[in-house]
Amino acid sequence: MGKMERSDSKPVFGWKKLEAGFFSFTGGEMGKNVLIALLLTFFGLSSGRGVWAADVNWASIVPELEGATYVKDTTECEECHEEYMATYGNTVHGRIFRLNLKNDKDAIDCENCHGPMSKHLDAPRKKPPLLVSFSITSQENKNKICIQCHAGGMQIGWKGSLHRRSGLSCPDCHYTMERKSDRKLLITERATEACFKCHTEKKGQALKSSHMPVREGKMGCESCHSPHGSGNSKMLKAGSVNDLCYSCHAEKRGPFVWEHAPVRENCSNCHDPHGSNNPRMLITKGAFLCLSCHQYGGHVNLPRYNRASSPYGQGCINCHSRIHGSNHPSGAKLTR
Ligand code: HEC
Ligand code: HEC
Ligand code: HEC
Ligand code: HEC
Ligand code: HEC
Ligand code: HEC
Ligand code: HEC
Ligand code: HEC
Ligand code: HEC
Ligand code: HEC
Repeated sequence: MGKMERSDSKPVFGWKKLEAGFFSFTGGEMGKNVLIALLLTFFGLSSGRGVWAADVNWASIVPELEGATYVKDTTECEECHEEYMATYGNTVHGRIFRLNLKNDKDAIDCENCHGPMSKHLDAPRKKPPLLVSFSITSQENKNKICIQCHAGGMQIGWKGSLHRRSGLSCPDCHYTMERKSDRKLLITERATEACFKCHTEKKGQALKSSHMPVREGKMGCESCHSPHGSGNSKMLKAGSVNDLCYSCHAEKRGPFVWEHAPVRENCSNCHDPHGSNNPRMLITKGAFLCLSCHQYGGHVNLPRYNRASSPYGQGCINCHSRIHGSNHPSGAKLTR
């Protein structure tokens, strides 16, 4: 947080609105600095909101930008980039950066992401352009630019996430020059469609006969995963698979008088949360699922107990209906 001490810029967005409400009684520069620290801590650690936290060394990204200065006037760009100016003006950044003109950092608008523009204005047709072009710059630099202001909550997971380590950068999922989605500047209307671009095998699963209502749009990949990484295995939103499932299927949490060990251990011992062609998203059909762990023997060997064609249909769960656990005094065998 050392960079916070810069006195020439005010790192908090939405500054003007807050200033009116807060500073009248926090009093003077002292109060301001305390509030900045509080806000940075609050936004920075809790929500991933757009709080300026670190500056980028533009010349380390594009060496020619050494000595370039901020022009702070986007009307200059209008002449040649009218189309992008219009669509960008409709985005969260476009609106916020233009409303907060008293804030030094906001006022530089385009230059927050594309770097200081003085040299580009002097020689607009130079190739490669004298600015940061996202089609040229590296993954880590793209991320660095966005992270200037989005160093908050999500970043806790981002650093170690498999997405970052696999070479993804923010623009793989977010488009900043135009609103392509009503939500979070995503590249597609729904987050799930963005995930499907790369995770085609999961798209295949969501189309299988048995699935949670992902393809119906009632939930999405982001219901269970944090695309920025979460610090949990598989970027899950909860510390374990079961805690994740309990968050919506609370009745499976128990505790039960008679537990079924594999249920407590991991729901995905039997279910594939992304979908399958077996009823209830089971990973294997009927009796075969049970018999992948339970030995043949005793009543299990009797055809009428384990055959899908038997009058018992599903086989085992016809009698062992309390498969997730039982609270019945005599439910030890999960039959009631
Ligand atoms: C100069 C600061 C700054 C930079 C740089 C910046 N943002 Fe933002 N961003 C903000 C502010 C301010 C908001 C609005 C407040 C909020 O929701 O956090 C915002 C909001 C967002 C949102 C949420 C939009 C919504 O609808 O809620 C996304 C997504 C986002 N930014 C992505 C990016 C990406 C991707 C980059 C890099 C290409 C980037 N930002 C660079 C300041 C910045
Ligand atoms: C006189 C015309 C002109 C003006 C004014 C101008 N640009 Fe450009 N800009 C261009 C041209 C031409 C290119 C394309 C260079 C190329 O093809 O590589 C370009 C490229 C860009 C790119 C890179 C696009 C990419 O391919 O990634 C960005 C970003 C950009 N300009 C931003 C700005 C901003 C911000 C301003 C205002 C401060 C501005 N430009 C003013 C002509 C202009
Ligand atoms: C929040 C960061 C951010 C801001 C602010 C921003 N841009 Fe961009 N811009 C991007 C990113 C990221 C891309 C690359 C888009 C992609 O291909 O995913 C881009 C691409 C472009 C392009 C190339 C067209 C394209 O789709 O590749 C132009 C031109 C451009 N920006 C101009 C501007 C101008 C002019 C402004 C200010 C009015 C501006 N940008 C403000 C992040 C930003
Ligand atoms: C793999 C896709 C993916 C990547 C890569 C990605 N995001 Fe996101 N981001 C999302 C999705 C999906 C959401 C919406 C999550 C939700 O609504 O639950 C989101 C939401 C956000 C938000 C809004 C957070 C909020 O609480 O409202 C911000 C800001 C953001 N992303 C910034 C970034 C930045 C900065 C990067 C790069 C460091 C980045 N994202 C990389 C998919 C991605
Ligand atoms: C640009 C391509 C791309 C997009 C878009 C994308 N991913 Fe990924 N994702 C990857 C890559 C590459 C990996 C690394 C492992 C692999 O190859 O499957 C990965 C891995 C994962 C993992 C496994 C993490 C682990 O620790 O094992 C999850 C979960 C995941 N992605 C969820 C999502 C979700 C949710 C979205 C949409 C918000 C999304 N992805 C969008 C490319 C992408
Ligand atoms: C109901 C919760 C849930 C939803 C919705 C969900 N996932 Fe998962 N996902 C999981 C769980 C749980 C795991 C870990 C499975 C394990 O480790 O046993 C996982 C694992 C993954 C993995 C790691 C590789 C693998 O198969 O183990 C990827 C990639 C992935 N999910 C992508 C997605 C994508 C893309 C979507 C949206 C189509 C999605 N997930 C929707 C719960 C979910
Ligand atoms: C974000 C909420 C949410 C989470 C988290 C969640 N589910 Fe679901 N699940 C649902 C909804 C909604 C349905 C559909 C319920 C309905 O149609 O009555 C469903 C249905 C199911 C079904 C029945 C499918 C069918 O074909 O009838 C199973 C099995 C299931 N979930 C297992 C899991 C498992 C295992 C996990 C953890 C990996 C999990 N769920 C996590 C919301 C969730
Ligand atoms: C030992 C295998 C097994 C494990 C482990 C397991 N289930 Fe199931 N689950 C089943 C079977 C079999 C069915 C089908 C029951 C039926 O059709 O009557 C089922 C059905 C379901 C259903 C839909 C019907 C209902 O009962 O609501 C949900 C939701 C569900 N399981 C959630 C979970 C959750 C959450 C976990 C982890 C806590 C879990 N399951 C662990 C075997 C298992
Ligand atoms: C992933 C492995 C696994 C799967 C799949 C599984 N079980 Fe189990 N089951 C266990 C374990 C482990 C125990 C605990 C055994 C013990 O305590 O001796 C258990 C206990 C039981 C018990 C109580 C046994 C006793 O002696 O008290 C019954 C009944 C049972 N399972 C039925 C089923 C049925 C029916 C299915 C299929 C829907 C099934 N199980 C699927 C692992 C599994
Ligand atoms: C017609 C009802 C019925 C069906 C079908 C059935 N069981 Fe059972 N099962 C029982 C009863 C009743 C007990 C308790 C026997 C006892 O207490 O001595 C039991 C006991 C068990 C036990 C505890 C160990 C034992 O042998 O006593 C396991 C494990 C078990 N069943 C697994 C299965 C599996 C796996 C299937 C499917 C292949 C299955 N059962 C099908 C009624 C059934």
